[in-house]
Amino acid sequence: MKRLGILLSGRGSNFAAIARNIREGALAAEISIVLSNRAAAPGLELARSLGLPARAIPPQNLDREAYDSLLIEALMEAEVDLVCLAGYMRLLSARFVRAFENRILNIHPSLLPAFTGLDAQHQALTYGVKVTGCTVHLVDEYLDAGPILMQAAVPVLDTDTVETLSARILEQEHRIFPLAIAKVLAGSIRMEGRRVISL
Ligand code: GAR
Repeated sequence: MKRLGILLSGRGSNFAAIARNIREGALAAEISIVLSNRAAAPGLELARSLGLPARAIPPQNLDREAYDSLLIEALMEAEVDLVCLAGYMRLLSARFVRAFENRILNIHPSLLPAFTGLDAQHQALTYGVKVTGCTVHLVDEYLDAGPILMQAAVPVLDTDTVETLSARILEQEHRIFPLAIAKVLAGSIRMEGRRVISL
């Protein structure tokens, strides 16, 4: 069985969706560790309630490389095949990306390359786009920049607030993140430059 390592910083609803897909047999994998940079992240509590190994690794005063070395160590120890960033709000160092080359996925709440970084739903709303969505992509050391695996679009309604738009996007995040993970684990993709082609 392929082993997932989850990194999260907050609520953990994407992590919960991955765990649910595994439980229901839609995703052939196991979660071998859940790590967070924030000890108070509700996602860590959720992991513990599901009986999964969960650990906070606080950044303290470590620089990015030193901090990421601790993450790499924990993920290696858990023999992780694929790292899933499920609302993990820190940039990864080049060292981390090299350690898990092409084996790190991120979910981002916009149709990349639009609206990178924080508060993507707020950015979309204030820019005035009529369609936005979410993206699952391979992670490199740049912000929200790696090759795109899967996207889902949602309409932006005139009546939307950040909350209603975020909820509509989140529903799609919960659907496509487990699908993209399954696809990568099955090895049913190949790369053509930046393009990820389904086999
Ligand atoms: C999700 O909307 C995810 O796409 C976003 O944070 C939220 C985490 O929610 N990630 C980013 O913005 C990464 N740049 P969750 O903790 O409930 O999964």
